Amino acid sequence: MDMIAPLQEVILERFYQDVVAGLSAADKSLPCKYFYDQRGSQLFDQICELDAYYVTRTEMNIMQRFAHEIAAELSHVETLVELGSGSSVKTRLLLDQLGRLAVYAPVDISTEHLYETAVALKRDYPRLSVTPLSADFTQPICLPESFPQEFVAAYFPGSTIGNFEPHQAIQLLRAIAATCRLGGELLIGVDLEKPEAVLQSAYDDPQQVTAEFNLNLLHRINRELDADFQISQFRHVAQFNSAASRIELYLESLTEQQVTIGQQEFHFAPGERILTEYSHKYSIAQFTELAAAAGFAVEEYWTDDREYFAVMLLRVVKH
Ligand code: TRP
Repeated sequence: MDMIAPLQEVILERFYQDVVAGLSAADKSLPCKYFYDQRGSQLFDQICELDAYYVTRTEMNIMQRFAHEIAAELSHVETLVELGSGSSVKTRLLLDQLGRLAVYAPVDISTEHLYETAVALKRDYPRLSVTPLSADFTQPICLPESFPQEFVAAYFPGSTIGNFEPHQAIQLLRAIAATCRLGGELLIGVDLEKPEAVLQSAYDDPQQVTAEFNLNLLHRINRELDADFQISQFRHVAQFNSAASRIELYLESLTEQQVTIGQQEFHFAPGERILTEYSHKYSIAQFTELAAAAGFAVEEYWTDDREYFAVMLLRVVKH
């Protein structure tokens, strides 16, 4: 128990360093991983329920509709590693169908969420070894020796891959390839290109839940890092960058203002923006190329009728 307070201090110190570094740059930014405090996670769950946010619903529909086919492709898998284990709903569809599965290992940096999910799954899948790994999934993961090592697959849903810039995405896929080893598979959710108006309303919904989600980052900084952001003096901006085929989320300063965070002061010009997240949209061909750069070949993919989203099955073909 004595460990908890110093641990939290170290985590806060890291948060502070990241925020100061991001806001000191010529183009201000904040790392998107800090969206997910308790309130942020709640808001994100609400986003997933929105009519305008097609992503979660579409991926879920594809998983339900093709669960049999997907499971047939993965029927030999003994160890399943899930990256950034979010809602376990999609995972359950897989766990229900993979007859040879011995180990399910959800990987996340957010330890608390990770263990909560694991406890629920352990209860519902008593024959499965549920082994959470608290790790940064952008690095290769060293699987415990007790795991069956021969048939390893990774599951990376939610189009989280789209939140990385292409060069980072390739690095991340390489790390996943190293975890799965030659011949191993990756089942990955990829958000596809679609009309701009659809993207615009998905990331700037009429109910303003996404705006609240984005602005919550400033609340969190105020609360945890002794800062004085005036939240009403910033607005949420979602902008489609067609050259880079991505949605860009920003927090835009409405006025000229000074903000104090701990010991540091930051100046904002009117209209100045803080970049908080990218969400890249790919074509099947573009993502196939990206995957190839990381040593993966596309075995198969499944989409919805509108081709808004793809669940893609990749295999590690070279290191
Ligand atoms: N990766 C998903 C996406 O890009 C979910 C997501 C991450 C998201 N951050 C977000 C959705 C911020 C809305 C707003 O769509």
